[in-house]
Amino acid sequence: MRHFLTLKDFTKDEILDIIELAKNIKKETKHQIFKPYLKNKHLAMIFEKSSTRTRVSFEVGMQQLGGNALFLSSKDIQLGRGEPIKDTARVISKMTDLIMIRTFGQDRLEEFAKYSSVPVINGLTDKYHPVQLLADYLTMVEYNKQNGVCAYIGDGNNMANSWIILATKLGLTLKVATPQDYMPAADVIEYAKAHNADITFTTQPTQAIANSDVVITDTWISMGQEEEKEKRLRDFAGYTIDKEMMALANKDAIFLHCLPAYRGYEVTSDVFEEYSEIIFNEAENRLHAQKGLMVWLMK
Ligand code: CP
Ligand code: NVA
Repeated sequence: MRHFLTLKDFTKDEILDIIELAKNIKKETKHQIFKPYLKNKHLAMIFEKSSTRTRVSFEVGMQQLGGNALFLSSKDIQLGRGEPIKDTARVISKMTDLIMIRTFGQDRLEEFAKYSSVPVINGLTDKYHPVQLLADYLTMVEYNKQNGVCAYIGDGNNMANSWIILATKLGLTLKVATPQDYMPAADVIEYAKAHNADITFTTQPTQAIANSDVVITDTWISMGQEEEKEKRLRDFAGYTIDKEMMALANKDAIFLHCLPAYRGYEVTSDVFEEYSEIIFNEAENRLHAQKGLMVWLMK
């Protein structure tokens, strides 16, 4: 049995296998072919944070695969009233076949997985957002950018950490620009270094974005950081992806954003709209990528 807690636990071949499955399932879906790969299987989705894309894509994805999904907000289950995570994991995994959890600390997710008797999927933690990266990589492949130079500009958050792991695993070139106090996690940077990844770190967004093929950003204020908003807006001045900044990337570069996007902060409205077709395809790819993942995990 395999969990999907971080891309660190997966080989390059395994990641590419999941992407291949996702591509095929997307093709079938586009032809209105819905094979019941997960008939009679039940997915529990536990959310300790808000979500639009993750919830809808897992729920619809599971239905399209012939299975069933249960939405469990921590506000409504005993977990939110203090039932230990290890008890919650042991109970829910007795009744379901697959569990997705969105929570705060990666340690909370790991504790859950340790006590679960069925595969557990990371639906976002403070540290990583690996299902988003499956969708992002699928999008890169679709726009023929799988060998492109990637630039991540903004907060060294769960998305930045996940990009570093993906780039390390797949051998991508990645340039990361964050303010000095907002670097990605130290152990993630160490991991990339230890694996001789082609990843550079800078505090100059213009340096990172120059001649890149895939430009990536994310919110400066992640879930749980709302109280730091004013300070963060000051600290991220100069990191907005605007037309001028985008002009430094290669001519046919694509722009990715996991969403939700905050116009006027990490990206201007005009840049967002210019790339909206790609961005919303990226969002749609959450559905297809996770269907691939769920079928892969249940094989
Ligand atoms: N990108 C993403 O995970 O979106 P949600 O928070 O809406 O699920
Ligand atoms: N970094 C953001 C991603 C949202 C999908 C957050 O954690 O809130």
